[in-house]
Amino acid sequence: VIDFRSDNTHGASPEILEAVMRAAAGTSTSYAGDPITARVRQRCRDLFETDLEIFPVVTGTAGNALAIATLTPPFGGVFCHEDAHILRDELGAAEFFSGGARLIPIPGNDGKLTPDALSAAIRDLALADPAMPACLSLTNATEAGTVYSPAHLTSLGNVARSEMLGIHMDGARFANAVAATGASPADLTWRAGVDLLSFGATKNGALAAELLIVFRPALFLKSLAPRWHRSGHRLSKTRFISAQFEAYLTGDLWLRNARHANAAAQRLAEGVAGIEGVEIIREVEANVVFLRLTEAIAERLQKAEILCFDWPIFGENAYRFVTAFDTRDDEIDQLLAILR
Ligand SMILES: Cc1ncc(COP(=O)(O)O)c(C=O)c1O
Repeated sequence: VIDFRSDNTHGASPEILEAVMRAAAGTSTSYAGDPITARVRQRCRDLFETDLEIFPVVTGTAGNALAIATLTPPFGGVFCHEDAHILRDELGAAEFFSGGARLIPIPGNDGKLTPDALSAAIRDLALADPAMPACLSLTNATEAGTVYSPAHLTSLGNVARSEMLGIHMDGARFANAVAATGASPADLTWRAGVDLLSFGATKNGALAAELLIVFRPALFLKSLAPRWHRSGHRLSKTRFISAQFEAYLTGDLWLRNARHANAAAQRLAEGVAGIEGVEIIREVEANVVFLRLTEAIAERLQKAEILCFDWPIFGENAYRFVTAFDTRDDEIDQLLAILR
C-alpha cells in the first residue's frame, strides 16, 4: 500500500516523539502554565517578529472554530472560499462556536479569493442583509494546493480592513505555504492584516498539535481565552502539545518537513507531464496534486493498492494526491510507473 490520501494519514517525526517522551518526566504546572509552553510562546514571538499569544489545541477544527467565534458575533457573516475546509468539512463548527454566524462562500480560481470578489461579496451581503460582515477566513496553503503570496494577502487584507472585518487564517498547511513562497511568517500573516492564525503541525509531522496564534492580544485575549477553556480545548497537560511544537520549531524541522513534502509533490507533477490519460488540474505549489485520470488508470491504481481520494468538486475523474514529510522518492516513482 502506498498512501496519498492525506498528510494526516502519516505518522510523526522522531524528533517530535522524543520531545513528548522528554516532557513526560516529572511534574509540571497544568493548563498551559508550564515552562515548555512559555518557551514555545517566546519562540513564536521570535519567529513571527511580533508580540503575540498562543492557544495550543489538538485539532485544526477547534483552532478555526475558536478563531472565527472570537472575530464574529452570532449575527455576523464570515467570508471564505467556496471550497474552504471550514465550510465543507467541519460540520458547522464555526457557526456553532460563534452562536450562529453565517459562512458566505466566494468562488475563486485555484482555491484563492480575489480582492474584487471579496468586495462584491461584502456588497451583496449588505444588499441582502442576512448577516453583518464580520470576518474573512483564508486558507494558506489553500485547499487546492496553491499558496497566497504576501502581496495577494495584503490586497485582501486591505479590503477586509476597510470594511472592518477581522481576519482569520487556516494554516493547517502553513509550513507548506512558507516553504513554497520563501516568504517570512510575518509577511504571510499579521503584516498582511491577519488577526488569528490556526498554525498546524499535525499534518506535517506532529502527533496532534495546532497553535491558535493571536497577533493582536490586546484586542482579542479577553474573548478568546474563556472560549478556549469553556469549550474544553484547554488541556490540563498542554505541555504535551507544546512539546510537539517546541521540537517542530527547533532546527527548522517544520520547514524541513514541509520542503520535503512540497518537493515530493513537484516530483510527481514533473513526472506526470506528458503521460497519456493523466492531466494536472490545479497548479502544484505546495504538497497536494490534483490529477484527472482515465478510468482504466484509476483502476490500475486501485489494483496496485495506491490510495488517493476522489475529488468530485474538481469535476469528473478528479483525484487528490497528498505528499507528506516522509513520502519517499521511490513511492512517487512507483506511482508514476503505474500511471505510465
Ligand atoms: C485546510 C484544512 N483546515 C483544517 C483542517 C482540520 O484539521 P482537523 O482534522 O485536525 O480538525 C484540515 C484537515 O484536513 C484541513 O485540510
